[in-house]
Amino acid sequence: MKQKFYVTTPIYYVTAAPHLGSLYSTLLADVFARYHILAGSDVFFLTGTDEHGQKVAQAAQKINAKPKEFVDSFINSYKNIWKLYNLDYTKFIRTTDTYHVKGVQLWLQRLIDKGDVYKDFYKGFYCTPCETFVTEKASSSAKSVMQNSNNDGDDACRIVNDEIICPSCQRATVEVAEECYFFRLSAYADKLLEFYEQHPDFITPKERAQEVISFIKSGLQDLSLSRKTVTWGIPFPGDEHHVTYVWADALNNYITAIGYGDLSRVSEFEKWWPADLQILGKDIVRFHAIYWPAFLMASKLALPKKLLVHGWIKVNNQKMSKSLGNAVNPEYLAKTYGVDQIRYYLVRKMAITQDSEFRIEDIEQSINSELANDLGNLLNRCSTLAIKYSFTTIEAPQSWSPKSGVLQGDCLSMIQESWSLVESGYLYRAVNRIWEFINKTNAYFHEHEPWVQVRKDKKSFEETIAATIYSLQAIGVMLWPIMPEKMNIMLESIGFEWEKDQNILKLLQENFWKKSCSIQKIDTLFTKHELTAEDSKGKSMENAAKQLDEKALMADSGLNFEEFLKVDMRIGTIKECELVAGSDKLLKMQVDFGSLGMRQILSGIQQSYTPLELIGTQGIFVVNLKPRKMMGIESQGMMLMTSDLNGLQRLMPSKGVVPGSRIS
Ligand code: ME8
Ligand code: MG
Repeated sequence: MKQKFYVTTPIYYVTAAPHLGSLYSTLLADVFARYHILAGSDVFFLTGTDEHGQKVAQAAQKINAKPKEFVDSFINSYKNIWKLYNLDYTKFIRTTDTYHVKGVQLWLQRLIDKGDVYKDFYKGFYCTPCETFVTEKASSSAKSVMQNSNNDGDDACRIVNDEIICPSCQRATVEVAEECYFFRLSAYADKLLEFYEQHPDFITPKERAQEVISFIKSGLQDLSLSRKTVTWGIPFPGDEHHVTYVWADALNNYITAIGYGDLSRVSEFEKWWPADLQILGKDIVRFHAIYWPAFLMASKLALPKKLLVHGWIKVNNQKMSKSLGNAVNPEYLAKTYGVDQIRYYLVRKMAITQDSEFRIEDIEQSINSELANDLGNLLNRCSTLAIKYSFTTIEAPQSWSPKSGVLQGDCLSMIQESWSLVESGYLYRAVNRIWEFINKTNAYFHEHEPWVQVRKDKKSFEETIAATIYSLQAIGVMLWPIMPEKMNIMLESIGFEWEKDQNILKLLQENFWKKSCSIQKIDTLFTKHELTAEDSKGKSMENAAKQLDEKALMADSGLNFEEFLKVDMRIGTIKECELVAGSDKLLKMQVDFGSLGMRQILSGIQQSYTPLELIGTQGIFVVNLKPRKMMGIESQGMMLMTSDLNGLQRLMPSKGVVPGSRIS
């Protein structure tokens, strides 16, 4: 029977198009899926979008859109980028899909029936960007919140300007006091700890497991499963005033996608569950390593076999994220450097175990020295020689020389060792192992000088070419999951044929270094890149970042009209105006805004206007800025000005307007 392999990615909040971080997790899943295809497994690769909750609702509201229409508008940007990068998922789930909604409601109903859910009052703090309750249960005061630890292992929430800061994303939380349905999470603390102990590889890498364990040990509280003040979500079964807490909704995507709760899909569900590998970033480890297993335990379902928790891609040492505006655009990178080149860069250079800095110069460097030099040149030189001297049908010699034998032995161990590194979850180490072998093959090729051999000893020439081509076949297969397009081209040119559905790893080992094959000429596999990063060599980091800024950052879609309207600009009539004592710039005005009333507004225009010139005239003012003090006097707005070489000039309507009229 075929083995099965079920791999998942987080489902992304659809508040913007995908960036390099979302691409990264989805790419890792694709690479694992492809390795398991090589091994002949039946593969299910799930990805999708997380569409409910306050965060999405707020983002939609910002542009006056209905939540469903808002999320619909992003789906293609996800699907297109995944397609561009050849991310060959089996299914794309959206949490607004009807089958998912039904599955979640059924799951909740079962928990309720089992007695794992109760109603209580929640008073505490909520971080909308993370969609997380910052303190767990009712009655907690801000002080006890401060003592709560968090998923990053830092000590507690900080209080800044009287606001409770989310320990995970460092943004201000909001206070929440509402009735909720709670899940008896606390009852699962010991069971969870026991499970981690029995399954030491459940959370990979180990460092992440430590954080999870200390979070539980610091005291696990019950978890809210519903929200009453949010309306964009899955209706809570049996209570129309509540919607399902977005994480209780989202996590279940991993089971509803494969048929949980649908009687007509029982065998599908049984075939795929439990997941073999769940990929996620460290920002959401608590949800996946604590809440999710507890949910599954409560539902009497098996737990996933492994969570692979990777670090963050950073830009200038800051997490790349949609909300920070430092997100790198995957489309730009693919167009500039090529899809497989970026896939390779991400898999090899972003270490799963820690955060990694994104650098354009590293992309260029790895294309030039690793892909073009180490791999591309070897292929090119070997096949050019073979074709030049008409050795285009490769045959293995009767027996291999000792040096070829060593290379052959290393080729076999490369296949085995890199595969076991893949299984442990450390893809970048698998690539390193493959590269070690590429370097050995290069050394073998150059040491034997086949361009000299061909004139002296045809047999040894043919052996050198054959050993190099067989090595390249193994390399091509082992790198195929990372660079599928390029490796397909390479493998075809060196006569390695295979069909999906075969266990290629097995095939490779069975026909190991003996099957005859034919060589064809191909174009350069990887073209070198002029180092744009050279420009910034010797200059500061900031320059390099600036360069990145202009070229690769997600294009800002521009200010939309609704955002423009947030700036409240009005016509005001200046009733009084005087100099501000001690200032040679400021004038103090009392301005009439009709229905808005009178406002005191300061403006730094003393050099250009006298009070008498202003009194009785009209101007344009921004009236919804936070009031601020200048020379100890409060200003409740700002007068719009322009300036050129002739100095400052104020803006005013061309004829009289009712004071308080809006500018739009
Ligand atoms: O958290 N580096 O969605 P999200 C690496 N909807 N990976 C990154 C990254 C970065 N700078 N930025 C984002 C959510 N990611 C929830 C998940 S799952 C049931 C619900 C990746 O849109 C990484 O995998 O905020 C991270 O965990 C995920 O995107 C968060 O995506
Ligand atoms: Mg996030």
